[in-house]
Amino acid sequence: MATTIATFDFHAPSPQESSLGAVLGVRGSEARVGLPAPALSESLRATVGTFLAIAAGSHRLIGVVTEVDSNFDPAHPRFGAMARVDLMGEIKRDDGVEHFVRGVSAYPAIGDRARIIGVDELRLIYRTSGARTIDVGSLHHDETINASVDVDNLLSKHFAVLGSTGVGKSSGVAVLIDAILDARPDLRVFLLDGHNEYGRCFGARANVVSAATLKLPFWLFNFEEFVDALYYGRPGVEEEVEILAEQIPLAKGLYQSQRSHLDRATVRRIDPRNAGFTVDTPVPYTMQDLVALIDERMGKLENRASRMRHHHLLSRIDGLRNDARYAFMFENANVGGDTMGEILTYLFRLEPNGQPLTVLQLAGLPVEVVDAVVSLLGRLAFDFGLWSDGAMPMLFVCEEAHRYASADRGVGFAPTRRALLRIAKEGRKYGVCLGLVTQRPAELDPTIISQCSTLFAMRMVNDRDQALLRSAVTDAAANLVAFVPSLGTREVVGFGEGFPLPTRLSFKPLPAAQVPRGETFRVDDPAADAGDGQSFVKQVVERWRGAAGAKLVVRDESGADANAEPRPVPAPAQPRFDPIPPPRFEPIPPIRHDGASPTSTRLDLIRAQLLRR
Ligand SMILES: Nc1ncnc2c1ncn2[C@@H]1O[C@H](COP(=O)(O)OP(=O)(O)OP(=O)(O)O)[C@@H](O)[C@H]1O
Ligand SMILES: [Mg+2]
Repeated sequence: MATTIATFDFHAPSPQESSLGAVLGVRGSEARVGLPAPALSESLRATVGTFLAIAAGSHRLIGVVTEVDSNFDPAHPRFGAMARVDLMGEIKRDDGVEHFVRGVSAYPAIGDRARIIGVDELRLIYRTSGARTIDVGSLHHDETINASVDVDNLLSKHFAVLGSTGVGKSSGVAVLIDAILDARPDLRVFLLDGHNEYGRCFGARANVVSAATLKLPFWLFNFEEFVDALYYGRPGVEEEVEILAEQIPLAKGLYQSQRSHLDRATVRRIDPRNAGFTVDTPVPYTMQDLVALIDERMGKLENRASRMRHHHLLSRIDGLRNDARYAFMFENANVGGDTMGEILTYLFRLEPNGQPLTVLQLAGLPVEVVDAVVSLLGRLAFDFGLWSDGAMPMLFVCEEAHRYASADRGVGFAPTRRALLRIAKEGRKYGVCLGLVTQRPAELDPTIISQCSTLFAMRMVNDRDQALLRSAVTDAAANLVAFVPSLGTREVVGFGEGFPLPTRLSFKPLPAAQVPRGETFRVDDPAADAGDGQSFVKQVVERWRGAAGAKLVVRDESGADANAEPRPVPAPAQPRFDPIPPPRFEPIPPIRHDGASPTSTRLDLIRAQLLRR
């Protein structure tokens, strides 16, 4: 080998020469390049991360230095350093126009010259011709050059933002979404905001939905999700779940038959038992009907244990229905009848009216129901894409993704993982793209990560997270993972289809007002002033109690409209269990604000109808 190399005329390059070093060995897509050491000048310092251009015959190959060592090889005394260079792509000339392509069509030979690439070449690489690009920040190599991402590639096969806590993931997501919305006016974005931090990031472009304004009728939840909500995130009681599985389709049938009766008096009423609904069919039914059906069945039972089970189930439904924290599922759930279309239009911005983005703030929802809500929304997003044949492309962004799709199958709520996996695996075909954000990549389901073709890797010090990242990127880029522990705040190494090359960049700095920030405890909140400490603590306690299970909604002392922001008052959240069940269960009507008598009239009507049949 030494003799082969000796046939080339190696010489120590001078600062005046454009070439800096020479290829001393090639193995697969990695070249070993001899470099002068010490560096000849400040502008000719080639170190880890530096891009080199190698003249391989008529090809101009582009690579990145991943490792530099002293060179003690006596065969090459002129090169004090030896660099490992990952070959990433090449600059080609077609019809007199230069452009960059990924991958190499020729390999370098021993002795081929290497040099640090120039600013023009760097610009050329990031100016992907014909592609829609978004500017997300600046390149580490040269801050004057914008870091651009191919937005169509980014959105065609999902992306993930990974990094330890506090490195700038959420801010990066804000930068990305803002730029994506500019470049893709046809796209709708749905952002699951686990910590209520994005409320002020997007200005008037965002439709911010909080726990107080969210409306997700209970009948939209599929059976598993509804059971999860009913049992406060714990597994359901088997016998009770069986009763529900039997009665929910009947309640759906009953609702539909009543509607057809109302709409067309002459139309023969559909028998709810033959209406063809499953527990999961997303059609409305009313809680009154469900309760009446269960109650009805209980009334016919002789067996005391079975009656007890029905009674427990009714108490549980009653407890959930009257829990103020679950008002988003039950309040006005049937006003307007079948509101599925309106809900989809509102949440997924199908008629954007200048707001193509929904920020759903999850932090005010009861913790036990968040998984079921995320599962429902993931399902709705996918199914809408599926049944509309991808007519309205959507980006579904999920913060804290490891929480909803954990690598450990025993952790979390299986339907939530399934909903996200479904988008990850098939969403692309139906125009649904997933954007995942996590501070614990190693805890995220590996199948989901493997479906993300663009990765924004921010600082990660954990070995397991780095190993995961290394396995998720191509072999050629794996060496660049070594940069990841040393990145600063806002800094990213970008891998995958969104980038022409694995790229070290800094996300754009956001103006202070747009940096994602929790809205609950802000130091600049006037209530947090030292002078008003007591009122601040009072607010904290109120929120705390509200989140921990307040049940009653009280009237404003002034007697003002009860629809105003509800104030929670502590009350037991758990359903009551009488030692001996009464012969017939009388469901407790929801608490009313208008002083009217309980809503027994409708229930009686339904019961009478059922008894008649
Ligand atoms: N692009 C940016 N522009 C302005 N400030 C930034 C940016 N990125 C990060 N920061 C600063 O770093 C702080 C942490 O950023 P950010 O909240 O985005 O991190 P994170 O990775 O999402 O943290 P966590 O894991 O806790 O959610 C911000 O409050 C802000 O001060
Ligand atoms: Mg964050």
